[in-house]
Amino acid sequence: MDATMADGKVYSKGWHPDEIGWASFDASKVEPWLLTAIKAAAFVEFNAPDYVIYLKRVFKDSGPEMLAAIEEWGREESQHGKTLGRWAEMADPGFKLDEAFARFRKGYRPAHFANPDGVSVRGSRRGEMVARCVVESGTSSYYSALKDATEEPVLKEIAGRIAADEFRHYKLFFETLAKQDEPELPFWKRLLIAAGRITESDDDELSYAYYCAEVPAERQAATPYVRAAYAKAVYNTTLRTYRRPHIRKLTQMVAKAVGVNPQGPLTKLAEALVWRMLKVRAGLSGVPKAAAA
Ligand SMILES: [Fe+2]
Ligand SMILES: [Fe+2]
Repeated sequence: MDATMADGKVYSKGWHPDEIGWASFDASKVEPWLLTAIKAAAFVEFNAPDYVIYLKRVFKDSGPEMLAAIEEWGREESQHGKTLGRWAEMADPGFKLDEAFARFRKGYRPAHFANPDGVSVRGSRRGEMVARCVVESGTSSYYSALKDATEEPVLKEIAGRIAADEFRHYKLFFETLAKQDEPELPFWKRLLIAAGRITESDDDELSYAYYCAEVPAERQAATPYVRAAYAKAVYNTTLRTYRRPHIRKLTQMVAKAVGVNPQGPLTKLAEALVWRMLKVRAGLSGVPKAAAA
């Protein structure tokens, strides 16, 4: 299935990194403030195999088709990591994805991946799918924002292709949510799960990824990880990347997964709150005026 982006561009499913126009890479257009964010995103995407194992345990009784869909989803997420890493290695010849990712892995492993009993940490398969929809809403809006924010042509293409994949992932998990032979989750429960997953984005994952992206191995001893500082850096870059329409799309997708009218007043209020929160968390200092508008 193809996904048409807001700019009318169509990106097919099943692309290969070699299809990217790497020869168009323009070092003069690499935005230094984005480089750390790209490396960090590569680490998080590259962590997908752990999540595949976890999700396959949750859906172990759902038939081979679902298990194959999870495998394919994980393959695409890993490919996102590899492709972003390849771009970062071009933009910063001192960066080595494998070495930096190994450091990230050593310092961060999500606790909830340990579910030997096969039960979702969200309490049910429906709950798991609500949480997955929240994540894919975040990634699809993020890569769309990235595509619009960068002037570097190869990164623009990569972000467009990844965003299209992330929209497809959302669709897969949204449809899976509706298909479950479990009782429908009450609204408050969906809301709690979505809010819980959004709050988890505040945990160490992205902050620590930023740290490993920014501080090379030889400087880590002298520059220890300070969570608050790197969390602020994440919010700063996020605010600088996103524009209001990306936040709108993000909140509409989360609203749909929770069962709220994506065009309704509650969703509009959520959009305003998320935008406000992003500005507050970024602390605004050091953020260019144009980005904060
Ligand atoms: Fe991804
Ligand atoms: Fe995804």
